[in-house]
Formats: sequence, C-alpha cells, structure tokens
Amino acid sequence: MRKKIVAGNWKMNLDYQEGISLFSEVVNMVKDEVRGEQDIVVCSPFIHLYGISALAKDANNVSTGAQNIHQEESGAFTGEISAKQIRSVGANYVILGHSERRAYFGETNELLAKKVDIAIKYQLTPIFCIGETKEERESGEFFSVIKEQLTQGVFHLEADDFENIVIAYEPVWAIGTGLTASPEQAQEVHAYIRKVIGEQYNTTLADEISILYGGSCNPKNAPDLFSQADIDGGLIGGASLKSRDFTDIVKVFN
Ligand code: PGA
Repeated sequence: MRKKIVAGNWKMNLDYQEGISLFSEVVNMVKDEVRGEQDIVVCSPFIHLYGISALAKDANNVSTGAQNIHQEESGAFTGEISAKQIRSVGANYVILGHSERRAYFGETNELLAKKVDIAIKYQLTPIFCIGETKEERESGEFFSVIKEQLTQGVFHLEADDFENIVIAYEPVWAIGTGLTASPEQAQEVHAYIRKVIGEQYNTTLADEISILYGGSCNPKNAPDLFSQADIDGGLIGGASLKSRDFTDIVKVFN
C-alpha cells in the first residue's frame, strides 16, 4: 500500500522562534485531530531543523525535512549543507528539484541526479519535484518534459532505491500563483508519471510510489485533488505557513 503524505514547504519564511511556534501548533493540532495513517512532513529552512526535529520525536506521524542539500559528501563548499549534516539532526526527507531551485539556482537534472544519490546514501527520502512551465503546458509538450525530468533525475536508480523516493508533480504555473491544476489535469499527469515508472521498472513498483500534487493547494481544493486515483497527497507551500490550513489539508485523509 502506498503512503498518503502531506508535506509542507516553508521556503525562506519564518524566523527561528516563529518556526518553532508554528511547528508546535501543528504537532498539537495533529495530535488532537488527525486520525488517519497519513505521514506528515515539514520541510523547513536549515536553521529550524534541529529544533523541530527534536519536537517531532514525540509527535505521531510528523517528520521533518530540508529543502535542499549539496551533492558532495563534505568539503570546501562555503555556505552549503550536506546530506549527512541534515540526517544528523534527525530529519528524514529532502525536497530536491523544486522549480524555484531549478529556475533561480540553475539546478539541472544532471546535478539533481547526484543530489538524489547522496540523499539516499544518508537515508534521506527525496521528494523529487517535476513539472512543466506555462509555455510547456500551452504548447502541449508537458508529458515529454516530465518524462525527461524523471529519466535524467531519478531513473538511474536501482528499483530497491527508487521504491524509497517520493515524486511531487508541481506545475510551475500553479506554484504560488493561486492557479491550481484542476483535479482532472493533475490526475492525467499523475497517471502518466505512474505509467512511465511502470515502463522503466515494473507496475508493482509504480503502484507503490507516492506521487504528491503541489501548486496552490489549500483546504478548499485539497479534497477534490486528493480523491483522484493517482494523487497520494500534497506538497504545500503558502498554506503550510498557517497551522489551521496545513492541518485541515492533512485531515483530508482522516
Ligand atoms: P504553493 O507552493 O503551495 O505556495 O503554490 C507549493 C510549492 O512550491 O511546493
């Protein structure tokens, strides 16, 4: 059975104290209100990770993750953070290939493949983001863009490793814009992603992989999106900064 997952992406928001308060609120709300088996992940800026990972130890189903790592083990890379360092504070996940990293920091599929490898080596589950731009959607080439991102970013993995990653479909035109893919549009792409994984590996493995939707997901649209056959949860940006909204999205799976 594949996992239902709701992951928050705080991006570059919240100072340390604000992050600790928000995480504590989420943990308390989850404890009181969440009854399902869904996994909940909060991907914070690096500075919060030690503090929130300590709080997560007593929290049912809540894990923590980073939003990026460097592709090398260690060394003279001033200002960077390694997979081993992230793992050492108790985080379990890392978002890789977010469209903001691809667009503003020049991250290519080739670089991301290396980050995926080092994440897996240090037992961090990659939440590997893929998705097309507005132009690619309008020109109809989005399926080939998505296939290329998968092929170059994660299809080098052996099946044993691939089964431990999470895919997030995030159409770039829907991120932070208030525009959401319709449940049908999202389902169409999620089914395609599962089909391509089935062709690369096998259908049993494709069936086990959690594929999250991301892009202006909120408590209103999450129920319709998450009820689609191939959508196993969400990667939540803006709405993860409010404990009520984030918890309400998690509760879609109650
Ligand atoms: P959004 O961000 O929910 O604010 O659109 C999603 C993401 O970038 O992961």
